[in-house]
Amino acid sequence: MPTIKNISYSYREYESPEELSIEDQELIIAAKEAAKLAYAPYSRFMVGAAIRLESGRIVHGSNVENAAFPSGICAERTAIAWAVSNYPDDKPVALAIAAMTDEGLTAESVSPCGNCRQVIAEEEVRTGKQIRIILSGKNKIQVLESIAPLLPLQFSRESLRVNRP
Ligand code: THU
Repeated sequence: MPTIKNISYSYREYESPEELSIEDQELIIAAKEAAKLAYAPYSRFMVGAAIRLESGRIVHGSNVENAAFPSGICAERTAIAWAVSNYPDDKPVALAIAAMTDEGLTAESVSPCGNCRQVIAEEEVRTGKQIRIILSGKNKIQVLESIAPLLPLQFSRESLRVNRP
């Protein structure tokens, strides 16, 4: 007989950015600004990610597409790569994501793709610190205290150790 296990997480949902802390509001603004800098001529879906580091510094990234579609990279991974390679000792504490189309900011929030979830999870493992994830849409803002709810049963460095013969 199998044992049934449940995974349950909660997150906060807001109707407007003013309900968030000044720091998180600032991060959402940086993500929206980053979305404007996206290079997305193929999808016309412009995504911005802004990361607050422990020092308070904000770094950002946007999606950078390519005519060879799989060579493109998402905003979240651009931002993480920038943060890790420029400020390896300044740990990310929060990451905001915003997206826009030619009609403006998306009404619904945008959640990171599977690849990005894995990269954000690695960053939490690397630094030993949870990253608050802020998904910002015009009508809805969702805040999660870690990437864990978006990537349950993670594959991580621990899995490599456990599964090695
Ligand atoms: N994209 C991101 O940058 N982040 C996400 O969270 C979802 C998708 C990009 C990839 C591609 O350039 C465009 O959005 C359409 O999928």
